[in-house]
Amino acid sequence: MRRKIIAGNWKMNKTPSEAVQLIEELKPLVANDDVDVVFCVPAVDLVPAIEAVKGTNIAIGAENMYYQESGAYTGEISPNMLTDIGVKYVIIGHSDRREYFAETDETVNKKVLKAFEHGITPIICCGESLTQREQGITIDWIRQQIKIAFLNVTPAQAKEAVIAYEPIWAIGTGKVATSEQAEEVCAAIRACIAEIFDEATAEAIRIQYGGSVSASSAPELFAMPNIDGGLVGGASLKPDFGKIVNYNK
Ligand code: 13P
Repeated sequence: MRRKIIAGNWKMNKTPSEAVQLIEELKPLVANDDVDVVFCVPAVDLVPAIEAVKGTNIAIGAENMYYQESGAYTGEISPNMLTDIGVKYVIIGHSDRREYFAETDETVNKKVLKAFEHGITPIICCGESLTQREQGITIDWIRQQIKIAFLNVTPAQAKEAVIAYEPIWAIGTGKVATSEQAEEVCAAIRACIAEIFDEATAEAIRIQYGGSVSASSAPELFAMPNIDGGLVGGASLKPDFGKIVNYNK
């Protein structure tokens, strides 16, 4: 039985002092021993966030990371910088980063390999545009993203990975995918992982759904057999996140 993982992606929201305030507010609301809870926060919020979650069930994740160890990469954050402060997860290849910061499946793969090398769990994002869905090429597109993201990843590493399926048309639009639509793609992702690796890896890997997840849509989405939790944007900044994390209560 896979343990659910419910992560918030704060995106470019909350200053360090606001971050601490929000964590204090959410702490009691997101207590749920049945699931893994992760807050992925902006880089400058990481240090105070890690301090603020001490002694709770919340893990802190970064929203991005570079694939080099160090050097002349102005503005980038290295894996050692993240591990040194206690970051456990990193979002890789979010559609925002693919759209605005030129991330490709190839850079995603480099970052995934680097995260594993440093013992950071990558939350690897994939997802189709509305045009791709309307053209009926969703599954082909997602399979391509997954196959490239997992190049040279070992089965042992892949078992620890988290994949976030986020249809771009559902992000920040209030237009949540139906649980059947989300399940269909998450099942296809799991089948693709079985093809690349083996059944045991496919059974172990956790696949989240992301895109306008709310307190009302979470229970049905997370009940689907191939959906192992969510990557939550807007609602992760509100008390509603507590209800999403406690979808099973
Ligand atoms: P929303 O939940 O705001 O649609 O964002 C989803 C997302 O992009 C999480 O990474």
